[in-house]
Amino acid sequence: MTYGTAGTLRLPTRIHFGFGARAQLSEVLRLSGRRVLAIVDPFLNDAPIFAETIAGLKADGFDVAVYSDILPELPIASLDAAAAFARRYGPDVVLAVGGGSALDAAKLVGLLATHGGPLSRYYGENLVPGPSLPLVAVPTTAGTGSEVTPVAVVSDPERETKVGISSPYLIPTTAIVDPEFTMGAPRSVTAFAGIDALVHAVESFTAVEPEPSWDSTLPVFTGRNVFSDVMAPRAVELLGTSLAVAVDDPGNRRARQEVALGSLLAGISFGATGTHLSHALQYPIGAATKTPHGLGTGMLLPYVLQACLADAGAVERIAVVGGALGSTASTPDARARDAVSSIAALGRAIGVPASLEEIGITRRQLPQLAELASRSARLVAIAPIPAPPALLLDILEQAHAGSLTSCTSCTSRTSRTSRTERSDS
Ligand SMILES: [Fe+2]
Repeated sequence: MTYGTAGTLRLPTRIHFGFGARAQLSEVLRLSGRRVLAIVDPFLNDAPIFAETIAGLKADGFDVAVYSDILPELPIASLDAAAAFARRYGPDVVLAVGGGSALDAAKLVGLLATHGGPLSRYYGENLVPGPSLPLVAVPTTAGTGSEVTPVAVVSDPERETKVGISSPYLIPTTAIVDPEFTMGAPRSVTAFAGIDALVHAVESFTAVEPEPSWDSTLPVFTGRNVFSDVMAPRAVELLGTSLAVAVDDPGNRRARQEVALGSLLAGISFGATGTHLSHALQYPIGAATKTPHGLGTGMLLPYVLQACLADAGAVERIAVVGGALGSTASTPDARARDAVSSIAALGRAIGVPASLEEIGITRRQLPQLAELASRSARLVAIAPIPAPPALLLDILEQAHAGSLTSCTSCTSRTSRTSRTERSDS
C-alpha cells in the first residue's frame, strides 16, 4: 500500500483525554476569562456529574450561565434564540457539554454571537470570516468527534438535506474528552455514535489523496494525508475491539475508554481529511426517515466498501481496515472482503439495521436519494472511486436489498468476542 506524502492538521490548542480529565476544566477556562456560557444537552440538567462540574466551576470563582434549550437536529431558529441569549450574557468563553448536537450548537452560537447572522451566510466551506468566542468542548458521547472538528451540521427547513458549515475557525479551542461522561449513555446512543466513529475512521483512511496545492487557500477537508494514515487504523482497531463490549456492558470502563479514544482519533483524522460516500448518502436518508445519523452511516458503510472493492488501490486500503479488525487472511483481497463482513457483523451485533428497507425506504425513493446525495459534491469528490449518480444508485439498491455478496457471517459474533478476550488478557 502507498502511504501519503503530505498533510495538514488543524486542531484545538489542547486536547485532554482520559478518565478524570474533566478536572482540567477550570484550568483551561481560566485562560479565557471568568464569565462562562455553558451550552449543554437538556438531559444533562438532571445528571449528577454535570451538577458537580458546574458546582466545581462556581467554587473556582466562575460566573456560569447554563443554556440547555438545545433541540435535536439543530433547527436554525433554535440557534438564533441561543445566540440572542449569548449576546445578552456576554461570555468570555463558551463551554459545550453534551453530544454532537450540543457541541455543534456551541460552535454556531459563538459564530452568530461574534459575527452575526443569518446562519445561511456561512453554509459551505471557508465562509466564516474570523475567530469566534473561545470554545471548550466536553463530549458526553463517543462518536461525532465534534470536539476536534471544523464542522457543524444544522437543519434548515428550506433545504431537503442537512446543511454543513465548515471552517477552521469552528475548531474548539480546547477539547476535554473524559470517558466518565459516556458511562451513562443509553445503549442506542453508544451504538449509533460509536459506529459513526468507525465510519469516520474508515472513510478518512480510504479517501483519495489529492495533489497538495500550497499556493492558494486550502480546503477545510483535504482528503487523506500522512496523519490520517497513522491515526485512522488505530481508531478502527479500538472501535472494532470495544464498541460492541461498551454497548452490551455499559459499565465496562476499559471498553468505554477505548471507544472514546477511537472516536477522538477518528475525529482528529476525518476533521482533516473529510468523509465520503456513507455520509453523502446518509444526509438525505436521515432527512427522509428521521433516523439517527450513525444508524444510517453504519448501515451504509459495508455497501459503500463493497462498491469500492472494484478499485485495486481501494482494496489495498480496505485490506488494512480488515487487518485492524482482526482479519488474518493471506491476501489483500480476502482481508478487504473480511473488512466488509466484519463491519456488517458489528453493525448487526449492536442493533444497526441491515437494509434501507428495514428503515422504511422504498425502491421508488432511491433515484431521488441518489440525486440528493450527489449534491454533496465535496464528499463525493474524495471517495476512492468515481461516484456518479448511477453508482450511488447502485449502492442504494444493494443497501435496500441487504445484498452483501462478501458477507457470509453477518450474524456471527464469534470472531469479535474472541478478539475482545485476547485484548483484555
Ligand atoms: Fe458521521
